[in-house]
Amino acid sequence: MEQLLRNFFLFLSKNKFFTKLAKKYGLRFGAARFVAGETIADATKIIQKLNDQGLVVTIDHLGEFIESEDEAKQAADECVEAIEAISKHGLDSQLSLKMTSMGLDISDELVMENMRKILDAGKKHQVFVTIDMEDFERSQKTLDIFKKLKEEYDGIGTVLQAYLYRTVDDIEDLNKYSPNLRLVKGAYKESPKVAFPDKKDTDDNYKKIIKMHMLNGNYTAVATHDDAMIEFTKMVEKEHKIPRDQFEFQMLYGIRTDRQDELVKEGYKMRVYVPYGDDWYGYFMRRLAERPANVAFVLKGIFKK
Ligand code: FDA
Repeated sequence: MEQLLRNFFLFLSKNKFFTKLAKKYGLRFGAARFVAGETIADATKIIQKLNDQGLVVTIDHLGEFIESEDEAKQAADECVEAIEAISKHGLDSQLSLKMTSMGLDISDELVMENMRKILDAGKKHQVFVTIDMEDFERSQKTLDIFKKLKEEYDGIGTVLQAYLYRTVDDIEDLNKYSPNLRLVKGAYKESPKVAFPDKKDTDDNYKKIIKMHMLNGNYTAVATHDDAMIEFTKMVEKEHKIPRDQFEFQMLYGIRTDRQDELVKEGYKMRVYVPYGDDWYGYFMRRLAERPANVAFVLKGIFKK
């Protein structure tokens, strides 16, 4: 049943008609629990509040299904605007973005032009930029672009997904760049030809890549809500005397907020991924797919209105 619901929400997350409809009608159905508003001004207030609680942030301007060069350029401008707002308000925040919203499906030249504009702003205002990882079909292209940009800019990182068979090799291949990587389990629906179908195998591989990347001496962002993975990271820290400024934990806005505060109290760096923007629908559906238990919360939200 849970798998059925998961597939249903992943299917909905890709539906262009609902995406457009959601954009038109604004944040609904309890999405405000996971999305920090529709504008950078909304997001700024939330980041300030999180910073006041000792949490650091990475913000993400939500955007899906970019179809034209103009839309991709507009998305890049939104990112520059976000970097400027972070700097203007003295916020402790990085920026996350998706290659498809920069025009990955249109042309490599367009992506590079948009990325350089954003990374120049990031360099000017000292704001680190992480390229989120999307579906398997786009992994190689995303990593190729990351490598090119990493040769030009320091302030850039990307994400690797534990559910992919290729990831152990990617950790080794990227090591020569001493990259700052966010490690995640993986959020997309992938074929068993490329990804572990069993959760247990993904979890084992997640532990393996966390340890590899930390022991390689690279900055490691462990992005998970799973206590078992958090405890494993702490164990690697202790056993191998990894300094606390070489890794951090990351969680999504609105999820396990008590745990986020606890980790701050324990003295760990805890970064919250804060999405904002009117294109909230696909992101919201993926969160529901991850945890169908959230559906009950959403239904309550609908009936309250
Ligand atoms: P998992 O889903 O296996 O959950 C394990 C346990 O965590 C649960 O049993 C429960 O105890 C607890 N838990 C999980 N969700 C909870 C909830 N909502 N409420 C309470 N407890 C909960 N993916 C991707 O493909 N590309 C990317 O770029 C990113 N980026 C990214 C950034 C950040 C900061 C995070 C936290 C995650 C991502 N992801 C991602 C998503 C990631 O791949 C993954 O889908 C989700 O984090 C869910 O997996 P978990 O590791 O949390 O564990």
